[in-house]
Amino acid sequence: MRIPIIAGNWKMNNTISESIDLVEKIKSRNLNNMVEVVVAVPFTSLYEIKKHLEGTSIKLAAQNMHWEDKGAFTGEISPLMLKEIGVDYCIIGHSERRQYFNETDETVNMKIKSALKHNIKPIVCIGETLKEREENIQEDIVKNQIIKAFEGIDKIYIKDIVIAYEPIWAIGTGKTATSEEANKMCGFIRNVIGNMYDEELKNNIRIQYGGSVKPNNIKELMEKEEIDGALVGGASLIAEDFIDIVNY
Ligand code: 13P
Repeated sequence: MRIPIIAGNWKMNNTISESIDLVEKIKSRNLNNMVEVVVAVPFTSLYEIKKHLEGTSIKLAAQNMHWEDKGAFTGEISPLMLKEIGVDYCIIGHSERRQYFNETDETVNMKIKSALKHNIKPIVCIGETLKEREENIQEDIVKNQIIKAFEGIDKIYIKDIVIAYEPIWAIGTGKTATSEEANKMCGFIRNVIGNMYDEELKNNIRIQYGGSVKPNNIKELMEKEEIDGALVGGASLIAEDFIDIVNY
């Protein structure tokens, strides 16, 4: 049984006080207890939000991390720093980081390994551009991203990894992949994992869909066999919308 996981990726939004406000609204409501709920908040809010999540089942995620434990990397945040706060998950390789901050499959791989070493569960983002989908090479692109991201990662760690399939053309555009398209790609990703590892991991790994997930499309997405949850951007900034998504 794969436990559904719905995560809000706040991206570069919310000061500390705004973060507290949003998380207090979310936790004040009854949330679907069949779903693992995660909030991925900005670095500056992590410490405070961890305290506000105490006594709830909501998990905390960072949106990025460096792969080294410490050192001369001005402006970076290390896994040790996240671990001390008590972060459960870390988003790794989001397309915005790949696009604007030159993240590569190689750095994604190093970050995943480092997160696992520190018991931080990676939410690994993959997905194709519009051009790649138009050229019908989306499966090759995604397969290549997975092979490189998972290179050298032992099968014992795979159960701690969540994959987020986020087609870049659907992020922040209001253009969702149809539930059939999303389901097909999540199934494809599952097969890639099956071929790299084994049948058990293929069946157990959790795969989220992300890209313009809203209260009005979550149900249809979650009904699909291969989709185990969602990584939600814009709609996770509005408490009511995020609650409606979690309570699909
Ligand atoms: P939107 O839900 O705003 O399209 O963002 C998706 C996303 O990038 C989540 O990580």
